[in-house]
Amino acid sequence: MVKKIFSGVQPTGNLHLGNYLGAIKNFVELQNQDKNECVYCVVDLHAITTKQDPKILKNNIRETTAAFLASGLNHNKSIIFQQSLVPAHSEGSWLLGCIARMGWLNRMTQFKEKAGKDKEKASIGLYIYPVLMAADILLYDSTHVPVGEDQKQHLELSRDIAQKFNLDFNKPNFLKVPNPLIQKKFARIMSLKDGTKKMSKSDPSDLSRINLTDSEDEIINKIRKAKTDTESLPDNEIDLSKRPEAENLLGIYSSLTNQSLQNSINEFSGKNFSDFKKNLTDLIVAKIIPISNEINKLKKEKNFIDNVLSEGSVKADKISSNKVKEIKKIIGF
Ligand code: TYM
Repeated sequence: MVKKIFSGVQPTGNLHLGNYLGAIKNFVELQNQDKNECVYCVVDLHAITTKQDPKILKNNIRETTAAFLASGLNHNKSIIFQQSLVPAHSEGSWLLGCIARMGWLNRMTQFKEKAGKDKEKASIGLYIYPVLMAADILLYDSTHVPVGEDQKQHLELSRDIAQKFNLDFNKPNFLKVPNPLIQKKFARIMSLKDGTKKMSKSDPSDLSRINLTDSEDEIINKIRKAKTDTESLPDNEIDLSKRPEAENLLGIYSSLTNQSLQNSINEFSGKNFSDFKKNLTDLIVAKIIPISNEINKLKKEKNFIDNVLSEGSVKADKISSNKVKEIKKIIGF
């Protein structure tokens, strides 16, 4: 069966190791498997659900695209495009917004986290963010959606919207119900400063994350300062699970080496953090610095990046505008 893959990343700056290990690394693996049809989107309409500076946004759109390419996405194999260049996403979002229920959106934990205490001041866009995400996914008949753990609830909402549409209009299977592709392990990379908090673009401390554009010195410094505890590394997963920082760092190590957590535990059990941190730093430098160098090189090639996005957007438009047409016909327009 041909797998239709769709995923997106917000161009909000500071793409980090969590984005890479939780999502982008998998985008590349899926692209390189035979028969998959992959569509990857720079979701700039999602980015404006919180306030953005227009100049910085433009830069971030290019930087996110550069990060896709530098990580191994290939615009000749995958469709790589910019969401706002494809009007079907906004139109589809309205149409599906009339299917989604308030009660469903009220349960979204990401809205609650991002809106904080003062919900009244959050934009309506932030509230209906998951409906736009459903439009992204459903307009491409996507069968599989690779994301990090934090997007699981949004994907469930996309599934609910697809099922309700099909039921309301008696069109079984018209909107394809997408499957989340969330890795069983390492789908949630945590902050380097607090192993109980997600690594995040918006954390005010840059020391909390490894950015994909960090230099070697920055990586060395951040891992040196990463929070740890005083004990040596354990020899089993149960003991490790009680030590969030150790678990996170060993998780990062395992994910970057593509080995099981238990193998990493075996490699370092009984050693102290300074030995382990040296190995971890070397590994992150070896994996991230080539990506960082390539991002910095591509960022200077603005015309090339803009062309990748506009050509990708033409291809994306063909698929999604057709689906919107079909949806409108079913609705009775
Ligand atoms: P965004 O831009 O916040 O994050 C992009 C991807 O990175 C993953 N991620 C993480 N994975 C592991 N550990 C972390 N600490 C971590 N932080 C972020 C996210 O799960 C995501 O996969 N709503 C989406 C973008 C989106 C989308 C879509 C995704 C819009 N439309 C359609 C899939 C399909 C978002 O905000 O991702």
